Amino acid sequence: MSELQWGKHYLAVRPDHFRVDYVINPFMDPADQPDAVVAREQWDHLVHTIEAHGGVVEVLGQRSDAPDMVYAMNLGLVVRGADGSASAVLSHMRYEQRRMETEAAQAWFADAGHVTSYVGRDGVGAHFEAGDAFPFGDALVVGYGPRTEELGLKHLAADLGVRVRGLRIDHPGMYHLDLAFCPLDERRAIICPEAFDDASRAALLELVPEPLVLTEDEALTTFAANSIVIGRTIVMPAAPERVRTQLEEWGFTVVVVEMGEFHKAGGSVRCLTNPLDVTLGRDLPLVPGGEVLLPG
Ligand code: ARG
Repeated sequence: MSELQWGKHYLAVRPDHFRVDYVINPFMDPADQPDAVVAREQWDHLVHTIEAHGGVVEVLGQRSDAPDMVYAMNLGLVVRGADGSASAVLSHMRYEQRRMETEAAQAWFADAGHVTSYVGRDGVGAHFEAGDAFPFGDALVVGYGPRTEELGLKHLAADLGVRVRGLRIDHPGMYHLDLAFCPLDERRAIICPEAFDDASRAALLELVPEPLVLTEDEALTTFAANSIVIGRTIVMPAAPERVRTQLEEWGFTVVVVEMGEFHKAGGSVRCLTNPLDVTLGRDLPLVPGGEVLLPG
């Protein structure tokens, strides 16, 4: 089974100012604040774990007025050209409380040599949050509903020149695709069908030839879909026995890292890391003009 080519190079945001100051998802409760010291230890351990398994992590500091900025995944979707060029489609966050994060991200991406843009023509287009979009099979799979708007899919497909397969999320607790979908290799992915409406659930099951299916409870309490894959190593916040057994049977090395402080704001391993090495033409086929496929 050929392994993922992307997922070896990440951007992460150091938790210098991580807090729960507002409520924009069902996990967040300002009365239950993360412990800053423990959060930093967990984050350091995640970074070391990625590096120990062959990954590279670039680190950006956190803005003091942006308590959710630690979830680097949400800053933008990075896509490399076959010629080595790098672009970042910046997120246009659904909630005003997170919009300032994009400024910091834009500066970092530009310094690192990325061309930056928003979905749509002029930056005032549809809401799009990275973390809702991952390459799998012949397409960029994009979750929409709670955060990314359906209109964003059209722009993404046209701007990147790729096929977008949309999946409508209708579960308030799985508000980003990465809480319910984790590509493992060419044919396999961890999925939680409960996150989606009927038509999208059917489309997802058709899209993934060999799914590892999480129950709703597993997805919400363990964040097991919010994992990252570095070749044949999967770094995950929890591995329920059945999940671990299946992953090991498939030849993956399972590495569990404790991320509990970050679950308090509704994110885990994937949310804390943004892959910088998804490459057009290699991980994502080029489709001139783009194409959007919606279920149902
Ligand atoms: N508190 C953040 C929010 O609701 C959590 C983001 C989690 N990130 C993710 N990629 N799922 O926006």
